[in-house]
Amino acid sequence: MRTLIVPPAAIVLLLSCFAPAQGAPPSGQDIYRLGVAERVASCVVCHGAQAEGVGQFPRLAGLPASYIVDQMQAYADGKRPNPVMRAIAGALSTAQISAVAQYLAGTAAPYLPAGPSSPTLLAAGARLVALGKWSAGVPPCRDCHGPALRGGGPALPGLAGQPEAYLFVQLKAFHDGTRPGGPLGLMARIAARLDSRELAAAAAYASALREDQQAEPARGRSATTWRPRPQSPEHFTPPPDFALPADTEDAGAVLLGERIFDNTPRYAAPYTGNTLSCRNCHTDRGRNPKSAPLWAAVPRYPMYRSKNRTINSLAMRIADCFRYSENGTAPPADSPELLALLTYANWLATGLPIGIKPSASGYPALAAPVKTPDRARGAAVYAHDCAVCHGATGQGSAFAGAKVIPALWGPQSYNWGAGMHSVDNAAAFVYANMPHGAAGLLSVQQAWDVAAWIDSQPRPQDPRFTESVEKTRELYHKSHVYEFYGETVDGHVLGAPGTLEAWSQENPLPSGE
Ligand code: HEC
Ligand code: HEC
Ligand code: HEC
Ligand code: HEC
Repeated sequence: MRTLIVPPAAIVLLLSCFAPAQGAPPSGQDIYRLGVAERVASCVVCHGAQAEGVGQFPRLAGLPASYIVDQMQAYADGKRPNPVMRAIAGALSTAQISAVAQYLAGTAAPYLPAGPSSPTLLAAGARLVALGKWSAGVPPCRDCHGPALRGGGPALPGLAGQPEAYLFVQLKAFHDGTRPGGPLGLMARIAARLDSRELAAAAAYASALREDQQAEPARGRSATTWRPRPQSPEHFTPPPDFALPADTEDAGAVLLGERIFDNTPRYAAPYTGNTLSCRNCHTDRGRNPKSAPLWAAVPRYPMYRSKNRTINSLAMRIADCFRYSENGTAPPADSPELLALLTYANWLATGLPIGIKPSASGYPALAAPVKTPDRARGAAVYAHDCAVCHGATGQGSAFAGAKVIPALWGPQSYNWGAGMHSVDNAAAFVYANMPHGAAGLLSVQQAWDVAAWIDSQPRPQDPRFTESVEKTRELYHKSHVYEFYGETVDGHVLGAPGTLEAWSQENPLPSGE
């Protein structure tokens, strides 16, 4: 990677003569273009006329305002070490930083032509960005930075079109601990688990990703042929993504199944009533053994379920996740969507013996709480470890109409009949999988408490609703421990008709949705 040496003091002094006339306080745009009289250079010289960035100078156009403010603060107090930006950020007032951040967040800039990169490096980058490296606990970059890497929420900057040199230097800095890891140390945790070559690959791919592209890996049978073999249900690994069949009759169905699992609102729209996707609760597209993996369900069905007091096929079980988790409707047994999901599930289970319940079934069992789960303690856990991504009102985030971080409650979340609404399921899921990219941060008690906090929020009605909340609670919710359906919280009866609607009036969906 090439590095440019900039004489910071010289530029800061030299450019201060471009300052605006005295009078009204300079706007964010003025600060960006002209700097501030005698103290701060114009940002244009380094970051470009349209904030498009080049070389080691980052693109600033469209970065989230609160992210920019945080970075300026970190430069000013030396936590993110950089002599040039320290001088600049330190010379701006809080109001000036906020003004320039607002201005930059609202601007757009063309992408620079990407530099030359080897196809092998780009392909490795695409896989990391779109599929992650779960074997090392690294989720796909796009889970947080957005499906097109154009940003994932107030704390999650876009990466697409950033100069490759800049991205690589930042990833190395996170890796080496010379740049603070960001909220919950997330980026440091992630970069530390990747080597230099992987960081270079992700930087090259992200930099080359264009406005109209989604992050996607190349598909089709790989040159290194993969052969299925029988495996023990205790240590099972599904076929690698690159073994996705390209030349068999059911290839199209496997691929469609994977797409539906990954982006349910888009690929199974008629049956989906919220913005959740299957992989939000069955992570790594149904592969992760700690996340109720799809493959582990295959050898267990048909099976009796007390929920509907009958023998369920795998198709019926999947249909239930549509009805409750997706707050939608059951796809017909012969619909292409349901058949594709079944085909995908069977393909994931290639080599898994049937009739034996794999130990990875469901979420990993969680020890009982020492203290009764408490929503007030849970609120504190939520504010500290979850709100940065899922938002203060639990509704996640969206970018350009596509959901990035899923909703935990509110109109776009799972309904009161879903498995995740049981506090024990949610606590087990959260303990093993959240915060995304930093699983293992919570104590057992914290997982139970935060699950209680989430369960004590408004969400869509139980589709089995009969007559009244009291009756429905009596019929379907009595056996669930610690749950809040039918309870009065903050003056609302949870699950009562109108409660969600009233809440939604005061808590609009996140911007971009
Ligand atoms: C002399 C060149 C120079 C000038 C002038 C300059 N910057 Fe920077 N800026 C840099 C460099 C170099 C970096 C990357 C530093 C690093 O590695 O952390 C940077 C990084 C940043 C970042 C972090 C971006 C990210 O994606 O994390 C922000 C925000 C920023 N600059 C804002 C500004 C603003 C606002 C101005 C004008 C008031 C400005 N800069 C003027 C060189 C400059
Ligand atoms: C679990 C969420 C998460 C995942 C997954 C994730 N990131 Fe990040 N990333 C963050 C957060 C949060 C920040 C902001 C850090 C800060 O505030 O300093 C960030 C910042 C960055 C930055 C700095 C951007 C800038 O403008 O300076 C880069 C580069 C980056 N991430 C690359 C990646 C790559 C490459 C991957 C995939 C290998 C990835 N991230 C995966 C959460 C994530
Ligand atoms: C770095 C961002 C981030 C943080 C912090 C985070 N999550 Fe998540 N969460 C995600 C993402 C992304 C998914 C979807 C995972 C996927 O698709 O692979 C998710 C999924 C979930 C789900 C299942 C889907 C849903 O919407 O119901 C729950 C429940 C959840 N998170 C709870 C929590 C809790 C509780 C915390 C705090 C202890 C937390 N999360 C912290 C990003 C985050
Ligand atoms: C809001 C979270 C959530 C979403 C979204 C979701 N599920 Fe589930 N799913 C669960 C929970 C919770 C369970 C029960 C896990 C347990 O029993 O421990 C489950 C169970 C399952 C099972 C049975 C697993 C077994 O081993 O018996 C299958 C199959 C399944 N889901 C498929 C899907 C499919 C397909 C989608 C998308 C259409 C989907 N799920 C969406 C939360 C979710």
